[in-house]
Amino acid sequence: MPYDPESDPEWWRRAVIYQIYPRSFRDANGDGIGDLEGVISRLDYLNDGTENSLGIDAIWFSPTFPSPMKDFGYDVSDYCGVHPDFGDMAAMDRLIAECHKRGIRVLLDWVPNHSSDQHPWFIESRSSRTSAKRDWYFWRDFGEDGAAPNNWRSIFGGPAWQFDDATAQNYLHSFLIEQPDLNWRNPDVVAAMHDTLRFWMSRGVDGFRVDVLGMIVKHPDLLDNPPNPDWKHGDRDANRVLRTNCQNLPEVYDAVAEIRKVLDEYPGRMAVGEVFGRPDQLARYYGTASQPGLHLAFNFHFIGQDGEYAPWDADLMLKIVAGYEAALPAYAQPCYAFGNHDRIRFISRHHGDGMGHLRARAAALLLLGLRSTPFLYYGEEIGMEDVDVPEEQMQDPARFLWEGRDPERTPMQWDETTGRGFTTGHPWLPFGAAGLSVAAQSGDAASLLALYRRAIWTRKRTPALHSGSMGDYAAVDGVFSFVRESEGERIMVAVNTVPESRTLSVAGDVLVATGPRLGPVDEVELEPLGAAWVRLR
Ligand code: NOJ
Repeated sequence: MPYDPESDPEWWRRAVIYQIYPRSFRDANGDGIGDLEGVISRLDYLNDGTENSLGIDAIWFSPTFPSPMKDFGYDVSDYCGVHPDFGDMAAMDRLIAECHKRGIRVLLDWVPNHSSDQHPWFIESRSSRTSAKRDWYFWRDFGEDGAAPNNWRSIFGGPAWQFDDATAQNYLHSFLIEQPDLNWRNPDVVAAMHDTLRFWMSRGVDGFRVDVLGMIVKHPDLLDNPPNPDWKHGDRDANRVLRTNCQNLPEVYDAVAEIRKVLDEYPGRMAVGEVFGRPDQLARYYGTASQPGLHLAFNFHFIGQDGEYAPWDADLMLKIVAGYEAALPAYAQPCYAFGNHDRIRFISRHHGDGMGHLRARAAALLLLGLRSTPFLYYGEEIGMEDVDVPEEQMQDPARFLWEGRDPERTPMQWDETTGRGFTTGHPWLPFGAAGLSVAAQSGDAASLLALYRRAIWTRKRTPALHSGSMGDYAAVDGVFSFVRESEGERIMVAVNTVPESRTLSVAGDVLVATGPRLGPVDEVELEPLGAAWVRLR
């Protein structure tokens, strides 16, 4: 569908969205780091309007802004610019125009919880206790006995406070020391951040993925967090305390409603929040009928919670999906993802018995079959796995404190040449195994890429799949199934999570399946760890 923000404001309900980690998608200038021109050169792969392309509807770009790159762009030093590694503003304008030409929407990554310590706002804030921007960040004295101002932990580990010699006070950083937290209780901060949204929407950007949205509003007195009764020695340091006073506070939902009003100043724009918590906590990000919140809020429960990864299990799938549907208000659309730049890739998470590749095929049909706006992480469609990155090539500073995220951020594998079609230079992270690439799978009807293409295009032309209701959940003998329905058309999505065949006594037409058998059937044969979409008769 051609781009028209005015005529199709709810495009995001039917969209399949693709996450690009810009450093790793395609390098056009040979410096080993992906860039915006590189993305432009591969847009036809994502959607050229034909079923030979993947068929995605929108791209979320991980941060593209100027940044010292301590956290690879999640430390922003200018919210309204483009990092020279990726190109310049002209390249960004071209990228937006080239995406829109193909009907692809553009989402940027907005990082409101913290800036870089090199952002002019923080430089001014730290310069003196009386600086006009002092209160844009959190500055506190040590406690009486020299203790930190409170017991909060950085998500990456260690105390969330850093002493700054210049003014002999501590500042709050919920992530790296180089990522000071902005004070969202200061109206000037709110206004300045809202303006950064307007800046990009005026340039044609269609929306935003919002980084750690749930943490932007803290308890007004920065009260200690309660200790986590389940924390044991060896668990992640950040989880020593619960995040009761710094995450999902009631006031954060008011801040979200104000953000929504800014988005509503421009037609057809949307935001998806990176939020964490129980189903009821996620559901609140959608706001209420009288006070709308986000268009979409991520639910990462298929990936896992509190640092634990989720198993591939039918009972758990039922619990996640049915539980979330029950928690959401009627107008809210779920939003699931099975991977992103922070977590071990899908196959690597589910490969303990060597059968992660089979599960990846079923995962495609589950993710695209759910009532949801699905997000794919680049390379998921060709089955990219975590890559063993040798110690001396590791880049992610969080590896010292949390978990190294380099293995899931390696360059996209376009072909089988030395530079994998990613670069003519030396890649910033090593490539994965040879033989796994877009070129190797493109002409192969049995490939994972072919399955993704078939599923995405089938979903696009099938109202039951892109906008239908969802119900009839079951988890029986290791098979999770549900039915999508619209205007009398009923499509069953069935996922076999066990390594044995299963037969379902339903008659219908198999539209898409992990195995070769499509067309009319009197009963549905699911191969070990397989999945199918069946139009019921
Ligand atoms: C979540 C982002 O996805 C992650 O990559 C980043 O390190 C933190 N937020 C801090 O911005």
